[in-house]
Amino acid sequence: MSKVTVVGAGNVGATAANVMAIREIADEVVMIDIKEGVSEGKAMDMMQTANLLDMNTRIKGVTNDYAATAGSDVVVITSGIPRKPGMTREELIGVNAGIVKQVTESVLKYSPDAVIVCVSNPMDTMTYLIHKVSGLPKNRIIGMGGALDSSRFKYYLSQALGANPNEVEGMVIGGHGDTTMIPLKRFATLRGVPVCNWLSCEQLDKVAADTMVGGATLTKLLGTSAWYAPGAAAAEVVEAVIHDQDAVIPCSALLEGEYGHSDLCIGVPCVLGKGGIKRIIELPLNDEEKELFAKSAEAVHKTNAALPC
Ligand code: NAI
Ligand code: 2OP
Repeated sequence: MSKVTVVGAGNVGATAANVMAIREIADEVVMIDIKEGVSEGKAMDMMQTANLLDMNTRIKGVTNDYAATAGSDVVVITSGIPRKPGMTREELIGVNAGIVKQVTESVLKYSPDAVIVCVSNPMDTMTYLIHKVSGLPKNRIIGMGGALDSSRFKYYLSQALGANPNEVEGMVIGGHGDTTMIPLKRFATLRGVPVCNWLSCEQLDKVAADTMVGGATLTKLLGTSAWYAPGAAAAEVVEAVIHDQDAVIPCSALLEGEYGHSDLCIGVPCVLGKGGIKRIIELPLNDEEKELFAKSAEAVHKTNAALPC
């Protein structure tokens, strides 16, 4: 029997739980939040779609009751505050660091063998914080950001190409921030054919720029940060782990020399399966991409330095 806990039953957490339930990624999904009744209500609402959607996943909602999360295979941390229009992800560090630390300690008390997927922002720094407070092996801590940013990249590529997003391949590495993420234009393809066969350098630069501010664009429209694609991206990461898919997904992983960097979590292509990150793939970056990665790593280090001790 597989069990996933989602901490934080807000926009992203509840969407992730709903996608996992509808796709039957796990047998049981538990949502936990500090807001009295919210997890319970959302879980009941989702369970009332069970016979409409022919869904067999059991969804449970609890308030602050970590005993109900016991024995989870994967824990997704979405608790914390989201950004408002004009805010950067980095500005959330003060509040979210305290929440993520407390949540990590609480979930591990009941699920000591769980793989942790961090969604809360600033995500690369929160993932690094989880390493520091938990002492878990590096494979068991995954930061979700690249899955979302890559999906946005594929969306903007498909718009520029006039193609089905499912026909497009593309990857975003680096930090999960408006100025730190790196859409890998050179590696993007339409059905395996490099997209530069159809798009000019100017068009590709615009796709990359739109991708980088993809979260900010939605935050401006919605008044808070987005949730459908973030929730689905978190579910994709969980599915790869629970179903031991060996899926290659860019995730924030602790680097120990890979890409020439150490002592930070940052987005790199990871092979995900049972146990979490099975392997980090080192792409043959060119000099320009290496330089962008180095700048991104520097910015993530700087945010990490602002972590409260
Ligand atoms: P939200 O405000 O809708 O939900 C957050 C939930 O966390 C609330 O229900 C709140 O009560 C709960 N919470 C707060 N403290 C808690 C605690 N100690 N224990 C349990 N629950 C607690 O926010 P939303 O939109 O769901 O975003 C959640 C986080 O995810 C934010 O930090 C946001 O910036 C981040 N995010 C990250 C993305 C990524 O790609 N990594 C994408 C989108 C959002
Ligand atoms: C997003 O990219 C804010 O991380 C959040 O939508």
